[in-house]
Amino acid sequence: MNDSDLIKMSEAVRSFYEKYPYPGPVESLDNYKLHWQDLQKRRADYHLYWPDKPFREDLSILVAGCGTSQAAKYAIRFPGARVTGIDFSSKSISCTEKLKKKYDLENLNVVKLAVENIKELGLNFDRIVCTGVLHHLPDPDAGLSALRQVLYPDGAMQLMVYAPYGRTGIYMMQKFCRLLDIPADEKGIGDLVRMLKGLPKGHPLETLIRNAPDFQYEEALADALLNPQDRSYTVAQLFKLLEKSGMKFGRWVKQSMYSPRCGVLSQIPRAEKLMQLSPEEQYEAAELFRGTMVRHSLIAYRNDNSSGDKTSVSFKEGEWQRYIPIRMPDTLCIEEQLPEGAAAILINKNQYRDIYLPVDKAEKKLFKAIDGSISIEEISNRIQQSSVRKSMPDVSHNFFEKLWWYDQIVFDTTGT
Ligand SMILES: C[S@@+](CC[C@H](N)C(=O)[O-])C[C@H]1O[C@@H](n2cnc3c(N)ncnc32)[C@H](O)[C@@H]1O
Repeated sequence: MNDSDLIKMSEAVRSFYEKYPYPGPVESLDNYKLHWQDLQKRRADYHLYWPDKPFREDLSILVAGCGTSQAAKYAIRFPGARVTGIDFSSKSISCTEKLKKKYDLENLNVVKLAVENIKELGLNFDRIVCTGVLHHLPDPDAGLSALRQVLYPDGAMQLMVYAPYGRTGIYMMQKFCRLLDIPADEKGIGDLVRMLKGLPKGHPLETLIRNAPDFQYEEALADALLNPQDRSYTVAQLFKLLEKSGMKFGRWVKQSMYSPRCGVLSQIPRAEKLMQLSPEEQYEAAELFRGTMVRHSLIAYRNDNSSGDKTSVSFKEGEWQRYIPIRMPDTLCIEEQLPEGAAAILINKNQYRDIYLPVDKAEKKLFKAIDGSISIEEISNRIQQSSVRKSMPDVSHNFFEKLWWYDQIVFDTTGT
């Protein structure tokens, strides 16, 4: 695209979101506020990004392309942080201002600004959240590079971009809409809703509509099917995007579905061959095998991040015993209707159904002893004293590594 096409496309996206803000405006964030009052949840969230840094709440956070409520949510979630929300749609800004007033969010600053122009603010950030935005930019590389420029060297970014294979039905229907010249207006959306009712069984979009309750809302349908600009990234393309913009991959927000150590991928023939691939190839393989991923959510750092590999967790050295495990907020421990031999089953909410972890009695004790303040070593010692099992360090090593891969816990590694 030349410069004038880029401007035209950007303007088309902006006026689309003025008309159809997505997600739609929300009136109340009361439940959200309640959920995040738990300090352990905020600690788990922090150490997902920075396992190696002491917990602090006075971060500067940018929510880039904040939509109608995301920046207000962050300001509510982290009252000790200074949150800046930017969006180029006036509608998103006014909805966010309304929430700011309603919840008296003095720590929130809302600015009408394009992601690409973020430098104009003259601010730098510890954490940048940019979810569901880059894939709508006419030049995502330029957008991500601009964000990188305002990220502190040891800051972290949370990104979410669309993934292609799981969205095949959406891209087919987008093309169909373009062929029929269906406009993004009330009449166009009304026609679309009636058309979708006749969608043949087995159409790739049909399953998506069935599994996404959001699609009953007009703004969700419009966002998915009539958006003027929408591209998606395979794992390989995503890694290229990061590299081009001076960023490096940290981890997936939820890593179990990408890992050959977890769920169905650990049980297929040649699973051991999968384990021998590089991490990036493993993620590519997971995306291809699963076939239904609609988005990638990840944490990335600047490629010159001063903490280097400390941001990754390792079980190779002896240090893992001093890691402090903290439970992830969206985990569930199921204790009824268990398969034989299992004392509990650990799952995450909204996760692939094959991603579950059965645990035996000894493992369940270890799991229950996690309180977010003591290390693996201390947990093991406590359980060892009340157990006849001899080799608790071995059990702990394998079990806590598994818990981490299965997104049950994060680690505070600052004690190492
Ligand atoms: C799908 S919504 C996502 C909103 C929010 N990030 C979330 O995850 O809920 C995309 C938002 O990005 C905004 N947006 C798109 N391109 C932008 C740009 N170049 N600069 C600023 N905002 C942009 C749109 O106005 C819209 O509010």
